[in-house]
Amino acid sequence: MRIEDKELSPLSPEANQEDIAYEVNLRPRSFNEFVGQKRIKENLKVFITAALLRKEPLDHVLFSGPPGLGKTTLATIIANELKVNIKTTSGPVLERPGDLAAILTNLSDSDILFIDEIHRLPRIVEEILYPAMEDYKLDIIIGQGPNARTLKLNLPRFTMIGATTRTGLLTSPLRDRFGVTFRLEFYSPDELKAIVNRSAHLLGIEIKGDAAIEIAGRARATPRIANRLLKRIRDFAQVRGDGTIDMSITKEALTALDIDKLGLDDIDRKLLLTLIEKFNGGPAGIDAIAASLREDKDTIEDVYEPYLLQEGLLERTARGRLATRLAYEHLGKNIPQGLF
Ligand SMILES: Nc1ncnc2c1ncn2[C@@H]1O[C@H](COP(=O)(O)OP(=O)(O)OP(=O)(O)O)[C@@H](O)[C@H]1O
Ligand SMILES: [Mg+2]
Repeated sequence: MRIEDKELSPLSPEANQEDIAYEVNLRPRSFNEFVGQKRIKENLKVFITAALLRKEPLDHVLFSGPPGLGKTTLATIIANELKVNIKTTSGPVLERPGDLAAILTNLSDSDILFIDEIHRLPRIVEEILYPAMEDYKLDIIIGQGPNARTLKLNLPRFTMIGATTRTGLLTSPLRDRFGVTFRLEFYSPDELKAIVNRSAHLLGIEIKGDAAIEIAGRARATPRIANRLLKRIRDFAQVRGDGTIDMSITKEALTALDIDKLGLDDIDRKLLLTLIEKFNGGPAGIDAIAASLREDKDTIEDVYEPYLLQEGLLERTARGRLATRLAYEHLGKNIPQGLF
């Protein structure tokens, strides 16, 4: 997910312009460099080896999960391991069937087509994908009215990799055409520490062990955020210290950046505060919460809620969202009598 026209807090899991520039250098290029997600890596290695042995294209793969966990990275690693070309596009960019047809007809055998934000593919474009993924056939109507004609073409045997922040928004005919679906998990503090150390090494930054652990603990369980915090803290280390990232400069920077103990960002905190203060802790519907925060509902569901749910600060029930005891405690709010 890329949000280009919005001011993002250092803790937002979404990519900003600066991330896009340096992520290219920090992005792991092989499974060995890719930290965590063990089950996904092991499975992918088997499928890749099998495809290479049979000299067949890899089956279509779908990655889902919150922003910044490594979906795009895994797609590029698969292409590297298979030694094939990868063509990257995204759902909202493909406005008309012709846009997708142009890309499909330019692929070669075994190439990878990576479609990011695949849940945002317009329906008329999505329908082109069904026969393309299933039988490597393109069925497209050209022109309109009496001049309209159907064009049928054979396509190269390509591999489709889709990425989405929400599998729930994918239509079932599209979901069913993927041979494998992987849901990316949030990262453990140990994994994030390894990522911070690797990135520091690549960027030529000296970092102390305890500082790396501290950054890992505040990174919202997300590699993109860990890398971004590392870069921000390096600024503090260069301006206010000798360039080395140690514990004291890390703490100073984290305080200046207004990042709390659980690594929550401003919107996370506002979401919980809204629930507690305006809805008495809930249950509150997602629409009411979104309206109250003046935030996009999908963004709340894709970007903010997954981490709050994972950390046990928020609960999702049939009647709506609830703030947990932990949320009250973390925000220093009095718990009304008999609430829990
Ligand atoms: N497992 C990992 N090991 C090391 N670095 C990682 C890992 N996963 C992600 N990263 C780092 O985090 C950055 C963001 O990852 P990536 O762009 O793959 O996320 P994404 O899931 O595609 O996010 P979005 O939904 O916003 O597109 C990468 O450039 C890489 O530097
Ligand atoms: Mg991505």
